[in-house]
Order: sequence, then C-alpha cells, then structure tokens
Amino acid sequence: MKAVQVTGYGDVDMLEVVDIRIPTPKKGEVLVKVKACAINNTEIWMREGAYGTEEKSGWRPEGVQFPRIPGSDITGEIVEVGADVSETLLGKSVVLFPFTSSGAEGSEHISDDMSFIGSEYDGGYAEYVAWPSELCYDMPLSAYEESAVFSVSGLTAWHMVEQIQAQPSETIVITGANGGVGSLNVQIASKVFGSKVIALVGDLALEDKMKELGATHVLSYKSPNLAEEIVEVNGGPVDSVLDVVGDALFETSLEVLKKGGKFCISGSAGGQKTQLDFRTLYLKHITFYGSVLGTREEFKRMLDAISEGKIKPVIDRTFPLEQAGEAQTYFKHSGKLGKIVLLP
Ligand SMILES: NC(=O)c1ccc[n+]([C@@H]2O[C@H](COP(=O)([O-])OP(=O)(O)OC[C@H]3O[C@@H](n4cnc5c(N)ncnc54)[C@H](OP(=O)(O)O)[C@@H]3O)[C@@H](O)[C@H]2O)c1
Repeated sequence: MKAVQVTGYGDVDMLEVVDIRIPTPKKGEVLVKVKACAINNTEIWMREGAYGTEEKSGWRPEGVQFPRIPGSDITGEIVEVGADVSETLLGKSVVLFPFTSSGAEGSEHISDDMSFIGSEYDGGYAEYVAWPSELCYDMPLSAYEESAVFSVSGLTAWHMVEQIQAQPSETIVITGANGGVGSLNVQIASKVFGSKVIALVGDLALEDKMKELGATHVLSYKSPNLAEEIVEVNGGPVDSVLDVVGDALFETSLEVLKKGGKFCISGSAGGQKTQLDFRTLYLKHITFYGSVLGTREEFKRMLDAISEGKIKPVIDRTFPLEQAGEAQTYFKHSGKLGKIVLLP
C-alpha cells in the first residue's frame, strides 16, 4: 500500500512516501481502508519533537519509534477482520477513536498507558490501517471526508467544554477560534451548551464565518486593546476561557476572567512557557484546567451531536495523500478556517 512515514525527528523532509505491506489485523482488530485522514498539530509536533526537549520526545517517555505513519483522524471502510471479530462488520463505514488505554471508563485519557494512533501505532497517512474493532464507531455523517474532521480536535474541544461545565447564562472566550480545536470549541460551547462565545481570531475577515459557527462576538488577537474590547462587548468580565494558544494570550485571559472564573488549556500554539503572577490566581479565585483529548463516552456524545446537526464539519482544504508534506506546511499557515484533510 501507499503510505507516508515519518523517518525521524525533523523538518517536513522527514516525511517519505513509501510502498509497504498492508497490515494484517491481529486478534480483536479490523483492517480499515482509509478514505480520509484529517491533519492535527499533534503529528506535526510529533515529527518536530516538540512534545519534549530531549531526543525522546513523544506522548510516551520512550519517544517515538521511527519510521512511523502519522495521522489520527481517520474514516474508512472495514475490509478485513482479525480473529474474534464478527464478519458482520465487513463493509461498515467507521470513524476511529484515536487512542488505546487500559484506564477505567471516564479515565481513559489520563491513564499512563494511553497510546495514540499515528504516534505509538501507525496511523492514517496510508491506504490501510489496522485498529481494534471496539474503537471503531459508526460514522456520524454520510461523507468520509466530513466525518474525519472531528476525532482529535472535536474530542479535545468537547472535553474542554464539559470540564468547565459551560452554562447557557455564561460567556466563554475562545482562543484560536478559527483553528481545528477552536472552531469546534465555538460550535460546542454555543450550539450544544448554549453559552455566549467571544471568538478570538487574527483576521477579522473571518467574522461572518465565525458567527455562523455560533460566535456572538469576534475580536482580533492583534488588537492592542483586546482585554478592554472583550470586557466591553460582554458588558463585564467573562466566566471562562478555553485556550489553545498559551503564552501569547495568557495575560489577556487572566485579565478578562471574572472572580471565580475558569481557565482551560489544551494547546500552546502561541508559546509553551509563560509567566504567572500567583497573586492574580488566588486573588481572583481562578480555577485552572489542563486538558488532553477526552473519554470514549464523550466521543459518543460528540458523535451524537454531529449526527443531530448541532456541530458541522469545517474543512479548509483537502490534499492528496502524496502531498502530506505540502499539507502539513499549509496547516501551519495563519488564518485558515477549520481542518485540512488528506485523501488517499
Ligand atoms: N491537548 C489536546 O488533546 C490537543 C488536541 C489537539 C490539539 N492540541 C493543541 O492545540 C493547539 C491548537 O491546535 P489546532 O489543531 O487547533 O491548530 P490550528 O488549527 O493550527 O489552530 C491554531 C490556532 O491558534 C491561533 N494562534 C496561533 N498562534 C497564535 C498567537 N501567537 N496568538 C493568537 N492566536 C494564535 C491560530 O490563529 P491564526 O490562524 O491567526 O494563526 C489558530 O486559530 C496546538 O498547540 C495543538 O498541539 C491539543
């Protein structure tokens, strides 16, 4: 089969298009013919070694074993079953839950043995992938491309919104709101949980599209008066911030939060390290939440919300699988809206 492998930590030239054997599904697994695989920052940071500062950067302390096929947001058709898997699954169109874990229900995402497709296992930058049958779910929409754009960013966004227990009466500031996670945070917070959303983007040309996704107000993170603008449009400080940007907007986030406010972070696209004045934290009674992915129950709740039409796929652009390098380079451009998808 045709696949794209990461051959080691480094730049985009560490991606190589190869012809390799189709994997054989083991006991409990199915073979999925990949129809679409959406890109996440996760696999770009995996290649760049950005999850750590040493040679063994990765989700697991032992680092990534190269060569590795990246890609975690996968939809496709089941074309073969391993031992102990019912043949009735053959021909089913599925979306893959992106990690294995022995953690108890509700704690899968914080288990030490959590292992991620595209990092600890070969992933979806390929024509076929083998995956446990119990982690394959019915597609929420009829199109493969559209059903592929939720797995990692949607699960991450859903878990963040559940963590802060967003309420209809509340206002939530969402950073990186035009990106993969942020555009889903906007939709989930507003259309599923009914909260008022202030979306932060770089380019205000995206304002109408962000409002279609559910934002009440759209502001630019480039404004020198951002904190004042947030408080002004909301008529006061906000209840929560859902953040994927990190350092670049941290000070603003703490400034606009009300007393007793919540700050939930799952990414640091705008800087991984920051400064914190502890007095702000305790004098404002702010609660911090760190967030990675989510649980299988949350994944199911998210798929239901997608099937019900509450959350829509937002696709910026598609690329053929062979152009994975160009697609990852494009992913890093400012101002895209939603997800980039690879099509084998
Ligand atoms: N914890 C988890 O489970 C999890 C899961 C998925 C992703 N993540 C992380 O979440 C982050 C976002 O991922 P993504 O897939 O949504 O990426 P993305 O699609 O590239 O979106 C990044 C967003 O951040 C904004 N941004 C970047 N630099 C900024 C800055 N200096 N100031 C203000 N805004 C800035 C971008 O705005 P412009 O378009 O204007 O540049 C864009 O809206 C990444 O760090 C990723 O690793 C974490």
